[in-house]
Amino acid sequence: LNYNVGRERRYVLEVLLNGLRRLEYRGYDSAGIAIDSDLTLEAQNENGKCKPYHSSSPLVFRQEGKIESLVTSVYSEVDKLDLDLEKLFLVHAGIAHTRWATHGVPAPKNSHPQSSGEFDEFLVVHNGIITNYEVLKQTLVRQGFKFESDTDTEVIPKLAKFVFDQARDGEGGVTFSQVVMEVMRQLEGAYALIFKSPHYPNELIACKRGSTLILGVNELGGETSRHLFHDVKALTANEKPKELFFSSDLCAIVEHTKNYAAIEDNEIVHIKDGSVSILRFDNEKEMPASVQRALSVLEMEVEQIKKGDFDHFMKKEIHEQPGSLTTSMRGRLKNGIVGLGGLKDHMRTIRRSRRIIFIGCGTSYHAALAARPIMEELTDVPVTMEIASDMLDRKALIFKEDTAVFVSQSGETADTLHALEYALENGALCLGVTNTVGSTLARKTHCGVHINAGCEIGVASTKAYTPQLVWDKRLTLAIGSDKLSTLAKREAIIAGLTKLPEQVRDVLKLDGEMKVLAQSLIDEQSLLMFGRGNNYATALEGALKVKEVALMHSEGMLAGEMKHGPLALVDEHLPIIVIATQDDSFSKQQSVIQQLHARKGRLIVMCSKGDASLVCPDGRSRVIEVPQVADCLQPIINIIPLQLLAYHLTVLRGYDVDQPRNLAKSVTTQ
Ligand code: G6P
Repeated sequence: LNYNVGRERRYVLEVLLNGLRRLEYRGYDSAGIAIDSDLTLEAQNENGKCKPYHSSSPLVFRQEGKIESLVTSVYSEVDKLDLDLEKLFLVHAGIAHTRWATHGVPAPKNSHPQSSGEFDEFLVVHNGIITNYEVLKQTLVRQGFKFESDTDTEVIPKLAKFVFDQARDGEGGVTFSQVVMEVMRQLEGAYALIFKSPHYPNELIACKRGSTLILGVNELGGETSRHLFHDVKALTANEKPKELFFSSDLCAIVEHTKNYAAIEDNEIVHIKDGSVSILRFDNEKEMPASVQRALSVLEMEVEQIKKGDFDHFMKKEIHEQPGSLTTSMRGRLKNGIVGLGGLKDHMRTIRRSRRIIFIGCGTSYHAALAARPIMEELTDVPVTMEIASDMLDRKALIFKEDTAVFVSQSGETADTLHALEYALENGALCLGVTNTVGSTLARKTHCGVHINAGCEIGVASTKAYTPQLVWDKRLTLAIGSDKLSTLAKREAIIAGLTKLPEQVRDVLKLDGEMKVLAQSLIDEQSLLMFGRGNNYATALEGALKVKEVALMHSEGMLAGEMKHGPLALVDEHLPIIVIATQDDSFSKQQSVIQQLHARKGRLIVMCSKGDASLVCPDGRSRVIEVPQVADCLQPIINIIPLQLLAYHLTVLRGYDVDQPRNLAKSVTTQ
């Protein structure tokens, strides 16, 4: 959303459409936008109460498909309408949304903004899910509302209109925030909402419960206020223009401002005539109180969200890993001591935990899984793993003596956040590991760390994965730092960590080789990956990358389980990647390779530099040689060629690398 004082309509339109482009990785099956047509600013009387409906309806566009189809349709419609896009308005506000379908197929009617009906008296964009929408819908249908979409969201603008009409018929009218507050009282579920209404032409309202909502503030040319007060005075005609943004993600606003505030649950942000007020109600029956909010300064550069010289974000992000590893470790590995400031007050409790439970989804789960072997080796605390959704399905036992570690790149994955709520209810110490400052995970856990990998845009996570792996080593080192018996091993890991960025740079040189390998695999139906010990997670993650982006069936498997089933699949056609770099499991992997050879398996073996003749004595297999590092750090090296392979396979097969079919980067609904 962009709220702008005194800028032409074209500018606002472009800010919004560009914002959607930045957010496209969050969802890209349909999109929509609403901007003002010709505002009649007399719609309100002096005390801000609404007079009968006077102003003209906003222009609303909704389109199925990627953002660019919306852009095309907006400009062609605008041309047809012959609108004066350069026209200066006293205030100009618009809202826009990119959708990832949950309720209702991708279609214009299901795209946001959703509408109250004729004249678009209330328009709403929504992230999240309304769980009681069926009940609300039945009530509204009984009141004569006609529903057009299959979405849960449509009840919100219609409810707003219902509340508005009822209040307008009573004494004294109703303010926009009163309408929204009443709507919020009726809604159940998770949401971040933005409301726009021609009844309140100088105003916009956003509110949230559950889903993330960011407010960005840009006072062009002026001193940026460090605090937002409920009574910030309206800008006078002589002041420079001021812009305000709402977004679900900082990526959409970074090119306009670095000053932002994360809106909290149960807060309503009311923008009116250039002033901002934040109202909060903890108890729904009470009147909301005004709150003051300090602005944070965003540490993100615009370059991070641009492709630069690369064809795709995924390729750029794979190649950024030496840098993201360096940034991630900066200031946290000094003189061999591991610093994790965010955890220091809790370290005693963590060490005394009954167990450490790692919880996550997708790539983040794999990052957590890679932590288990070394954590079991260097600490005395038992370690278990939970996929967030499965933990919730089973209502897995969790105790107040447990430490629950939640790993999430975005910090917004709904399954992970629900598992967090569950762990908090059960009294566990909850620790968050995320790449996203200000995310829900960062805010709701007791303690945690930011991995500082930088903004990741490609839907398939790459550059956040390796810093996640580094982070879990650091946590292990910190927890195990009171054990003298493992001192030598810990020192070796710390020494290894500092060399990692350079070694990752070295492995990235395999890019061309991986492209050749990908060429040989483009027509395959399936690709298996066998790993074990430290590299079981590598096999799972490598296969997930291939599956996610190259749209090829791929399975990561525990090599120890090979003879208990997967061996039946082996023949001279099915390509199998075996990870056999040097560590404790090396001889077992050699034996796996021999068994696969005996079944005429078509092998691609990843091994440590100089080991080609050990893993492939008869020269029959393809070999990928990588630098050898400390055993628990090896997954950081080994995943790089597999990321490159997935990237090239995707491009060669002609699929969209950055926006794979049916996938979204942050799955914010369950
Ligand atoms: C989605 C993405 C995956 C990602 C997972 C967890 O499913 O498509 O690539 O690994 O969410 O995301 P998180 O942000 O919690 O790490």
